[in-house]
Amino acid sequence: MAGERIAVFDTTLRDGEQSPGCSMNLAEKVRMAQQLETLGVDVIEAGFPIASDGDFAAVRAVAAECRSVTVAALCRTSAPDVLRAAEALEHAAHPRIHTFVATSDLHLEYKLKKSRREVIEMTRQAVSLARECAQEVEFSAEDATRSDVDYLCEVFATAVAAGATIINVPDTVGYTMPVEFSRLIRRVREQVVGDRNVTISVHCHDDLGLAVANTLAAIEAGARQVECTINGIGERAGNASLEEIAMAMKVRADQLPFETAIQTQELYPTSQLLSSIIGCPVQPNKAIVGRNAFAHEAGIHQHGVISNPLCYEIMTPESVGVPTNNLVLGKHSGRHALALRYEDLGYSMQPAEVDEIYERFTSLADRKKHIYDQDLIALLQVGSATTERIATEAVTVGGSWAQSTRV
Ligand code: KIV
Ligand code: ZN
Repeated sequence: MAGERIAVFDTTLRDGEQSPGCSMNLAEKVRMAQQLETLGVDVIEAGFPIASDGDFAAVRAVAAECRSVTVAALCRTSAPDVLRAAEALEHAAHPRIHTFVATSDLHLEYKLKKSRREVIEMTRQAVSLARECAQEVEFSAEDATRSDVDYLCEVFATAVAAGATIINVPDTVGYTMPVEFSRLIRRVREQVVGDRNVTISVHCHDDLGLAVANTLAAIEAGARQVECTINGIGERAGNASLEEIAMAMKVRADQLPFETAIQTQELYPTSQLLSSIIGCPVQPNKAIVGRNAFAHEAGIHQHGVISNPLCYEIMTPESVGVPTNNLVLGKHSGRHALALRYEDLGYSMQPAEVDEIYERFTSLADRKKHIYDQDLIALLQVGSATTERIATEAVTVGGSWAQSTRV
């Protein structure tokens, strides 16, 4: 039986892109957006149009290019912000204006310098204006998890009365805990949503490493939209990682009987594309898409995986799109074969770069019998000083992947 549908709202191009070292130009944003569409996200948040001309142009370009997904533009609760977002979304097939204001007393006093009443009025006016410009309006209460809950519910109720159909509960500073967050979502559901056709969304940051756990707890409590990013990039410690949420739901469907439209075999290519665009390697032990996610080092683990991959792997590399090319490159392979393999993996190189990597490759091949794709990617990311370490320690049991029966 099909589980209830969870909408995936990707904010890699907005929250992700605004974090240090993750900026993208217009062409890169459009390329990334095309891949997100292929991946199967429901919503692409393409930028914050009033923040810069670049963001405005990016939202426009993504809206022109991506016709099968909803394209969202972020704005504060001021009329110029809302109108700029609406203008950027003018030609979108499925536009969504996403307006936000902080609701915690801390933010009201020190950042906005507004009273609680004033914030309620700003919410009412911004959502009403947004609804005049777009069919779909999302409202976010920034710093929701440190806000007074009764006041938070009052602000959400104001947004819903003014026409918002998606209310987003951000854990802006990554402060909440799963049990606490799920209690908050239940409260919002009972106090604000009731039997109205309003979707509760969550947006979790990872300051305590709990963004994905909090997101999953919220789904169990009634959230039906999750906001997340590829590779978990985003402000400070980042946002909840899309690939981890999608695979948790797929692998543990027994505990989480929900569905997304994510084509999970596109997860790894999407992760690699982002990594190459922003020039930021994925941490090796990153769940799902890190280069060690399917590598087995300890002898006892290797033996177990060879006998039956289920011993140590809860999902197949294929299910997340990790390439399992069994073409074995060894010390007899030439530059051409090496360059071709890199091309298959999505890396095109100049002849001088091939020469340089070839030297490292042969030095590794002298020590390691089989060189797998993960090793080749690792070679790009490490200098020659660590090449020997890879040769003696990390062994990828690539041959066993293809026979797996897991998801
Ligand atoms: O973290 C946050 O509160 C945000 C909002 C704008 C949704 O990014
Ligand atoms: Zn955020």
